[in-house]
Amino acid sequence: MKLEHIERLATLGLQSGRDYSHIREIKPIRGGSINEAFYVRTDDAEYFMKFHKNAPKDFFKSEAIGLRLLKETNTVSVPNYLAYSDQEGQSFLLLEWIEGTKTEDTEAILGRKMAELHKCFGRMHGFRNDTYIGLLPQPNKLMPNWLQYFREYRLGSQMKQGIENGVIKGARLRKLEKLLEQLDKWVPTFVEPSHLHGDFYSGNWIVGPAGEPFIVDPSFFYGDRQVDIAFSELFGGFSKQFYEAYNEVFPLRDDYEDVKPLYQLYYLLAHLNLFGETYGKQVDDIINRYVTL
Ligand SMILES: Nc1ncnc2c1ncn2[C@@H]1O[C@H](COP(=O)(O)OP(=O)(O)OP(=O)(O)O)[C@@H](O)[C@H]1O
Ligand SMILES: [Mg+2]
Repeated sequence: MKLEHIERLATLGLQSGRDYSHIREIKPIRGGSINEAFYVRTDDAEYFMKFHKNAPKDFFKSEAIGLRLLKETNTVSVPNYLAYSDQEGQSFLLLEWIEGTKTEDTEAILGRKMAELHKCFGRMHGFRNDTYIGLLPQPNKLMPNWLQYFREYRLGSQMKQGIENGVIKGARLRKLEKLLEQLDKWVPTFVEPSHLHGDFYSGNWIVGPAGEPFIVDPSFFYGDRQVDIAFSELFGGFSKQFYEAYNEVFPLRDDYEDVKPLYQLYYLLAHLNLFGETYGKQVDDIINRYVTL
């Protein structure tokens, strides 16, 4: 996107967030893989702004709602929200700028705070709004039964998208169908529906001014807390201190190791759908652990 265009959108966003001062600096930063991200400085404050040229319906709205629900738990820190737009060609999300240096306590605090977040429960699993995982649609519903939600709305929905994309077919498809039929062997029916980050990998937390961790870029839903922890382990990057601190506050259940690969499978299927066959082997390895034809 052209800087002029970005500056115009930044002005709109800042005004709706009630900063009427002048923009002094805008510069691109190395962002995530999906959006263009910028540092914005005005006379009054510093901001983080991200843009997407063709954001799908309610894309940044759903991120803004997730950030609000996480913040309302008063557990883990979340950047303050200023404004969003999902208008075609001018969609953006504007947040408070967070910057700081990691201390030796940062990851332990993150572990404790994530455990505290996970001790905040909703009434049902899932979510009332459809959301996104990356750019992929994540249809949602609120359901009392975790197994049913995870089967239909998580694995099932990625399977459906994979069939449409042509990346799930043949033996992979037949095995995945069989796995879904037998999912009750490993995935619990009734667990408490925790507030989840939903896209909890090491690129989605940052460090604030006092060395405290902030989580960003959620794909919010209510569900089994072990989903967030399973995804944190998939691509790595979290220290031993993180897991120790988490377990001190809210120990993982005995079924964690058995269910972990199935929760990781959801994210791997999403990666298969987004980035293609590079993720095929990891998907197949997990499916093969649980079923044979
Ligand atoms: N409020 C903030 N202040 C400073 N830096 C931030 C802030 N929010 C995010 N960042 C940085 O920008 C990067 C990209 O942000 P974010 O994860 O929201 O973008 P994305 O394109 O949606 O990412 P992804 O590839 O994970 O989907 C983050 O990894 C983080 O380093
Ligand atoms: Mg991110």
